[in-house]
Amino acid sequence: MKTKSHQLIVQSKLAPELVAVRQQLRRETGLRKAADMALRKSRKQQDQLLEKSHFMQEQLRNLSHQILLAQEEERRHISRELHDEISQTLTGINVRLAALKIHVTSNTGDLQKKISNTQRLVEKSVAAVHRFARELRPAMLDDLGLIPALLSFMKEFGKRTGLQIRFTALTADRIEQLTSVKRTVLYRVVQEALTNITKHAHASLAKVSIQIHSGAICMMISDDGKSFDVERVLSARRRICLGILGMRERVEMVGGTFAIESIPGKGTTVGVKIPLQNGDKK
Ligand SMILES: Nc1ncnc2c1ncn2[C@@H]1O[C@H](COP(=O)(O)OP(=O)(O)OP(=O)(O)O)[C@@H](O)[C@H]1O
Ligand SMILES: [Mg+2]
Repeated sequence: MKTKSHQLIVQSKLAPELVAVRQQLRRETGLRKAADMALRKSRKQQDQLLEKSHFMQEQLRNLSHQILLAQEEERRHISRELHDEISQTLTGINVRLAALKIHVTSNTGDLQKKISNTQRLVEKSVAAVHRFARELRPAMLDDLGLIPALLSFMKEFGKRTGLQIRFTALTADRIEQLTSVKRTVLYRVVQEALTNITKHAHASLAKVSIQIHSGAICMMISDDGKSFDVERVLSARRRICLGILGMRERVEMVGGTFAIESIPGKGTTVGVKIPLQNGDKK
């Protein structure tokens, strides 16, 4: 009996403190619930933002692919125009000049000389138009295929820049079965990679190889020149390197992978892998 009343006294003494603790606990639980809810809401918002950013990234990617395709189409058009219209007009003028030279009678040496000089100018213009048209979009790429177009480009490029280029292409027939877009991508990568070699590498030799490896076209362009810090160049915010970015974008556009490696004392290698698919010809 004595113990019971003692218990009651202890309980009544503890009661206010217990109530306070309970209230505090309730408050904290409430706060925690509110924080949980806020966290859940912010996570949801974050997820939505992430989804939106992925969607926009995808849209941007589609847009840049469309731009690349439109640019190629435009180049094809200008190239044909240059080749078929301007080049033929210049050739026509040249033929007439040649005829005029024959018909010029005696004592007109001065006139003949002037005509000859004009002919040389016309010939130079015809050559420039051909080169320009070829650089824009080689008709060979559509008419004869990737390998002849590359051979012709590399021959002219080597002559113009003095760069020695070694080219190896295995299974050429399978390469020519690629879609026109894929062939164009490979051609543009070679163009940019070789241009970079002459612009930046100070190399004496460039090697280009194309082969088929585990169901994919593998292309490598390497040089023995000055190396560079790939990561630093690609992550530099102030400088926009369109060349390397453009190569990567084109390759990814056709479902391929792009890599670039530069080793001090060895040089730089650009690697491209494009899977062969049923959509490719044959
Ligand atoms: N083969 C290479 N050897 C040495 N440095 C290279 C090579 N390729 C690229 N680089 C370096 O990487 C940089 C970026 O190359 P990228 O092709 O993107 O731009 P760019 O050639 O400077 O300009 P552009 O937009 O006209 O191509 C170059 O400025 C150069 O410093
Ligand atoms: Mg470049």
